[in-house]
Amino acid sequence: MGLKKFAAGLAFTASLFAMGAAKATDIEVTHWWTSGGEAAAVAEFAKAVNASGDHWVDGAIAGSGDVARPIIISRILGGNPMGATQLNPGHDADELIKAGLMQDLTDVAKKENWDGILRPKTQLASCTVDGKVWCVPVNLHSAQWLWTNRHVYEKLGLQPPKDWNEFVADAPKLKAAGIQPMALAQGWPVGLLIQDLMVAVAGVDGFVKVYKDRDLGVAGGPDFAKVFKAVEDARSMVDPKDMTKQWNEAVALVITGKAGGVVHGDWSGGEFQVAKMVPGKDYDCLPGLGLTPVLNTGGDVFYFPKSKDPKITEAQLKMASTLVKPDVQVAFNLKKGSLPMRGDVDLSAANDCMKKGLEILDHPKSNAVFPNDVQMLDRDSLNQINDLMTQFFSTPAMTAADVQKKFVDIIKAAPPMK
Ligand code: GAL
Repeated sequence: MGLKKFAAGLAFTASLFAMGAAKATDIEVTHWWTSGGEAAAVAEFAKAVNASGDHWVDGAIAGSGDVARPIIISRILGGNPMGATQLNPGHDADELIKAGLMQDLTDVAKKENWDGILRPKTQLASCTVDGKVWCVPVNLHSAQWLWTNRHVYEKLGLQPPKDWNEFVADAPKLKAAGIQPMALAQGWPVGLLIQDLMVAVAGVDGFVKVYKDRDLGVAGGPDFAKVFKAVEDARSMVDPKDMTKQWNEAVALVITGKAGGVVHGDWSGGEFQVAKMVPGKDYDCLPGLGLTPVLNTGGDVFYFPKSKDPKITEAQLKMASTLVKPDVQVAFNLKKGSLPMRGDVDLSAANDCMKKGLEILDHPKSNAVFPNDVQMLDRDSLNQINDLMTQFFSTPAMTAADVQKKFVDIIKAAPPMK
């Protein structure tokens, strides 16, 4: 081969290479999935986006949603948007949508029949504003779970608790053995625990009447007085100095047998899985705190801030579609501890906790599947409740009646939801 021909061949190969490389668009993705289980799950999304030909640039924000959400929102408002971002189904992005800063996903949603394949309907409804779809729901997470370490109880000669009441009754025996009866993290996990007790004690109806309908009679009434009494029981199970900073540190106390159990969302399942623990053998996961099988429709969605770069827009639309592909849904949700957004996927690898969740979702009894807090109440009011409850847990002199009165004031001042 002549030198000229060889050089031309090289140039051709190099340009092909350059074309191939140019096709992969960098897409920065912000999220707050930084615990062991969360990181394992989000790696599945990154793998799928990379396999689709684009390049996932990981923008994990350490801490929890409370830390990440304001950063995410101010970056978009401030003109420094990421390619894609996690948020919860609810109203966190309403202002951004109104300001015209978000990418419209309606065409992909229609083309792929999201309305027909994604369930429950509430999640796509949460992404829909003025008839247009602005986010893609990727999972269903629920908060009403009690997680216990079976070995802790068995070593003390006790039957692992089957519900919240047995969990509370066993607390003195654990304390006497130098084990923390219940693990708890500061801030939003305290708010979550209280909500779970509202549902367990005052029922789904009571909870929804207060959070959605703002029924002050119920919030200040006898059923909620019982809720705050149960919160007093819960307080006696955690020494304020043992409250952890991060939610996953509280779950880790249960995994390592330093605490008997924790009330937390099903994202905890990802942590038990990373620790190679088996439900029913090493730990128990009890939906509705073992009292009533319920699920709320929390979870995660992805939004795509509008970009002037058509290559980014193309990558965003492709990513939206990738995240709900059946195999991607299975791989991600098996690691996340959440339920997939579609029922037409192969869940033969589901563990027992996921099976319990699916059973409630697929065969819901009356109002067993109900809205998540952010689908009913604004973030600011929810944060005030979290702060109040954290104060209650660290102030033994504060009574159930004090906290109920302050709770009613927060509900009363909460702005109406659109
Ligand atoms: C929630 C989110 C879950 C889980 C949890 C703890 O807001 O929906 O996916 O990650 O926070 O970080």
